[in-house]
Amino acid sequence: YIDGIELSSIYGRFQVDSRIYYNVRAMFLAAEMDGINLSMVSAFRDVDLQTRNFNNKKNYYIGLGYSEEDAYAKTATIIAVPGTSEHHTGLALDILTPSYTSLTAGFDQTKAYAWLVEHCAEYGFILRYPEGKEGVTGMSYEPWHFRYVGVEAAQKIMGAGITLEEY
Ligand code: DAL
Ligand code: ZN
Repeated sequence: YIDGIELSSIYGRFQVDSRIYYNVRAMFLAAEMDGINLSMVSAFRDVDLQTRNFNNKKNYYIGLGYSEEDAYAKTATIIAVPGTSEHHTGLALDILTPSYTSLTAGFDQTKAYAWLVEHCAEYGFILRYPEGKEGVTGMSYEPWHFRYVGVEAAQKIMGAGITLEEY
């Protein structure tokens, strides 16, 4: 995957798959027109960066007293195992807003989240790891993580309130 994709820089230090550059720009601009500020927090990540993130989190759980095996398993429900993250494709975005800048569940109380859930599908994005679907996706709830699947699939998925797996 990673060797074959073409990336475009966006909003400073971020990169996305070039094929979705205008989708991302259009979504952020549409939000702005509705008075909503979206902030990009993470987009493309290479395997090295994912590995650093994964190991930091795993070491955090080891510090709390988890065994190596349990720390790995717990971390893998929060950060995808390096090499398997959809951030490696350049098609996934973590989005917050200037008034709420932590990757925590409380982001779902913001106007930015409400706007994203209502409009993301128009630009081809889905809420990828919804609350209550942890058993289906294998990932903890991430109200900030949106993934491009194309407008048609996104509208079906968001319209039905299902996950990519179920679709
Ligand atoms: N946090 C998401 C699941 C990832 O690491 O890809
Ligand atoms: Zn993400």
